[in-house]
Amino acid sequence: MTHQIKSLAEYKSAYKKSVDNPEEFWAEQAETFTWKEKWSSVLNWNFDEPNIKWFEGAKLNITENCLDRHIEDRGDQTAILWEPNEIDGEVKKYTYKELLSEVCRCANGLKALGIGKGDRVVFYMPMVPELAIGVLACARIGAVHSVVFAGFSAQALADRINDATAKAVICSDFNKRGVKNIPVKQVVDDALDKGCPSIDFVLVHKNTGDQIKIDSKIDKWWHEECDEQSEVCEPELMDAEDMLFILYTSGSTGKPKGVVHTCGGYMVYSCYTFKNVFQYEDGDIYWCTADIGWITGHSYIVYGPLLAGATTVMFEGVPTFPDAGRFWQICEKHKVNQFYTAPTAIRALMAKGDDIPAKYDLSSIKMLGSVGEPINEEAWHWYDKHIGKGKAPIIDTWWQTETGGIMITPLPGITDTKPTYASYPMPGIQTLLMDADGNEVRGNNVEGLLCVKFPWPSILRTTYGDHERCKQTYFSTFDGMYFTGDGARRDEEGRIRVIGRVDDVINVSGHRMGTAEVENAINEHHNVIESAVVGYPHDIKGQGIYAYVIVDEEGVSKENLSNEIKAVVTKEIGPIAKPDKIQVVHGLPKTRSGKIMRRILRKIASGDTSGLGDTSTLLNPDIVDSIKAGAI
Ligand code: WT7
Repeated sequence: MTHQIKSLAEYKSAYKKSVDNPEEFWAEQAETFTWKEKWSSVLNWNFDEPNIKWFEGAKLNITENCLDRHIEDRGDQTAILWEPNEIDGEVKKYTYKELLSEVCRCANGLKALGIGKGDRVVFYMPMVPELAIGVLACARIGAVHSVVFAGFSAQALADRINDATAKAVICSDFNKRGVKNIPVKQVVDDALDKGCPSIDFVLVHKNTGDQIKIDSKIDKWWHEECDEQSEVCEPELMDAEDMLFILYTSGSTGKPKGVVHTCGGYMVYSCYTFKNVFQYEDGDIYWCTADIGWITGHSYIVYGPLLAGATTVMFEGVPTFPDAGRFWQICEKHKVNQFYTAPTAIRALMAKGDDIPAKYDLSSIKMLGSVGEPINEEAWHWYDKHIGKGKAPIIDTWWQTETGGIMITPLPGITDTKPTYASYPMPGIQTLLMDADGNEVRGNNVEGLLCVKFPWPSILRTTYGDHERCKQTYFSTFDGMYFTGDGARRDEEGRIRVIGRVDDVINVSGHRMGTAEVENAINEHHNVIESAVVGYPHDIKGQGIYAYVIVDEEGVSKENLSNEIKAVVTKEIGPIAKPDKIQVVHGLPKTRSGKIMRRILRKIASGDTSGLGDTSTLLNPDIVDSIKAGAI
């Protein structure tokens, strides 16, 4: 089993070894897994192309490590504990033995339908156990999964299916979320109507049993294809550097890109970080509230916990149904020991009052995790006082889809914590701050651009189908370094605080949105001539979306415009990308080379119209006053 750091001295010596002798350090971690063949070299890399290979020559199957390996010692232990949307609904528990059988049945079903090693399979499913089962079934047979968050629109789903040239979609009929019953399969039908020529079939999981349209030529029922299959499926032999999954994420330009993670390194790092960051002990009940549609769910609901032989809770519903006590009710009911959520959820629940968590027994909680965006002081203290009762360390974990696992974080009970600070790099993570001119910012009490100068096992390998884009986005800003896109501060004692994105990416409720992507969606509205989107501080969401639009006023009703723009964005991307504020303007501040000066727009959106800096280089300096005057 992966090594667990238990003291500050051990953290320090592990960190030192990981820098002085990274290959030996990671080989020792990797030795604790089941490999079918050992590696010929631990690490080969350059950040120029980039070309990064961990455990080259090794052969494995990650599901053998998630499942088969645990059968002897913990076959009857609960692997997945599923809590349904309805508070009085039936809890489902899958032991490691049962999970292995279900994964094999599904894997055999997929094989019989023609899915094989290297084929891409897109998931569009709510948080039901079958999502985890399906993902693991793909990994079992060497198919590459790409989970699309089920809140994305049909257009966004079609774009991802086509970018991945997926052979199949796996979905549910409907999805219960709070009081809503969402027609999931209908969205898949709509996506396919837009043209997805690579799709052979859609595998439909009967979730609610509500009526759906079935096209016998392409739709297959999960229960018909998988339930009668054998519960034995030999794991496909994978190279350490074979693709495990693609996960789409937004960037500052263009369409979302498919971040690629591979089998060996991702396995080693997701398990290592899970065991250490959550200090998981046998018998603990661990709950991460993320959705499997995001990287947090991949690494810390499915892979990390199962690799470590943990009991992982999966929740179908929302934090506010039937009321704002639901999270705490679940913690009490299942005696949750490690709880991991996002600042936006903490802020939303904090706003409902202190008396709500006070009704529940939260004494089982040993540590509290935070992820996805900077956690503000107020939320940090509320989480500490009202949920952890001052006894559970707050573990603010900084990482990204591209990093595959947690990068900067305190370790509970081992390193200290400080409000709003992600604090210390994990062993193996060589972070540094750079200035805009490409010089390292040394010393303490400084700010800079957050970079990493040495590879770790779960660093992204490429962006699917476009390696050049991977190079440009992450490895070209600074020579020989991975650039995160974040700005950070280092305090007097060397702790890191991640401040936020320095590129044109907005973090809305912990979800990454590219401004260009939202602008493209807004521009689909027939009256919109041009738009510019920026983020602004939002009490609950962290950042809200502020859109400045230039419209062709003919035939536009002002009242409808805002709603229509929101509807267009919902259709093009999904409700999470809907602008919170829309201001009609007559022009946008542009430089002489035609570039929008977002700095000015960001300032106005934040409600700060004083000292907008030098506007003399603008092509149209007069426009700034009129935008200021019309600000919402
Ligand atoms: C971006 C990555 C990693 C899982 C969820 C988000 C921001 C993430 C923190 C944190 C401050 C954070 C960064 C990062 N971020 N965690 N603890 N403190 N900022 O994954 O969608 O890939 O977004 O989220 O800006 O670059 P993602």
